[in-house]
Amino acid sequence: MIISPVSDATTLVSPSLNNLAGLPVYRRALARAGLRPRVVELFWDNFCHLEPYAVREMVAPFGARVVLHISNSRFIETSQLAFDAYLTRMRAWVDALDPAFVSDHLYQFTLDGLYCDAPLEIDYERSLDHVAARVATYQARLDRPLYLENYASTCPRGASQPAFLAALIARTGCRLLWDVTNALVAELNGRCDLRAWAPLLAAQQPLAVHVSEVGRDRLDGDFRVDPHGALDRSSLHALVALARDHAIDHIVYEGSITSEEGALATDLSEIHGALERPLRPDVRPIARALRRRYLTEHAPQPVEPHAIWQAPLVGMTDAADREEIEARMRRAGEMWLENHDLSPRSLLVLTSRDLPLSFGFQRARAAGETPKTIGPVPDRLLSEADDAIYRFWFSELNETLDG
Ligand SMILES: [Fe+2]
Ligand SMILES: [Fe+2]
Repeated sequence: MIISPVSDATTLVSPSLNNLAGLPVYRRALARAGLRPRVVELFWDNFCHLEPYAVREMVAPFGARVVLHISNSRFIETSQLAFDAYLTRMRAWVDALDPAFVSDHLYQFTLDGLYCDAPLEIDYERSLDHVAARVATYQARLDRPLYLENYASTCPRGASQPAFLAALIARTGCRLLWDVTNALVAELNGRCDLRAWAPLLAAQQPLAVHVSEVGRDRLDGDFRVDPHGALDRSSLHALVALARDHAIDHIVYEGSITSEEGALATDLSEIHGALERPLRPDVRPIARALRRRYLTEHAPQPVEPHAIWQAPLVGMTDAADREEIEARMRRAGEMWLENHDLSPRSLLVLTSRDLPLSFGFQRARAAGETPKTIGPVPDRLLSEADDAIYRFWFSELNETLDG
């Protein structure tokens, strides 16, 4: 169902501005659905390699107040030095875009030095003092409230999440970013009843809301959030129930990552229309990380310090043949393009030490562009003079290979 364009008020619902390639798609989908959101959320990780004033120009046509959403800041687990550097960088973005607020997550990416495949739920019993101190610094440096998104729990410690967030909010004055689908996933996994959130939701009105799609992990059967599919009925019903009893500031639909224009317009219209009418550590993420991120079944020993994108290169053995080396280089480049490490560079050149084999991985720099992979190049584009990780040389640059 496509709703007729509205001419007067702005609307609550908008797609997540997830990536550069999607920006024109999001605008066309909103126009097709007749929606004019008053707030749009920029997924900063996928834009952070760009100059903030250039991004301000890119989002200006949406005609909406911007909020910044961050996943990989790792603000709970980085060193004080790294946290300080991140905040200095984020402050420049805040000055350029003047977002209504900045939002982040209560999760961590590493366990004993190993980057896990998906963010892990923190240990609520032991974290309050440290997290509260980090949140206070985060807010003071950005001079605005920090919103924290609830985690889609899969393990027993999820039961403590509402009480932890309430205590954190009481201490720091931070705010809740309520992801309906994350909360639903936690309930479906038997970790936290939706009703446990009621007091916090009542106190946090008007609510900043996310909605996405419930999916299922193919490997372990856990319920998970799947932002690559279409809107699901259970999330929509939970959202409608929420809106019936609470004031909502805005809703970000996160099912926009890979949607094409027509499907996205339909989902946004459906959300808009629906609102109008009415404690044990979980080791499975580590197993998934080994399979998907490190391309191995066993934890590499020792795990030396490395960036996330270098994970596929870490576990390579002496027995690796050309096919495996190439596959690991490709996977490292894919992860680099996703910018989990928030690098500001636009080009990665990667060369094997053992073979005349190189790749270039180039991030998008303008709206409508997509990232590029150049290679395999049967040559050594780098040498020992460049940075090295295990049996590879690499260089991160702000140049282009195909210019
Ligand atoms: Fe998020
Ligand atoms: Fe979310």
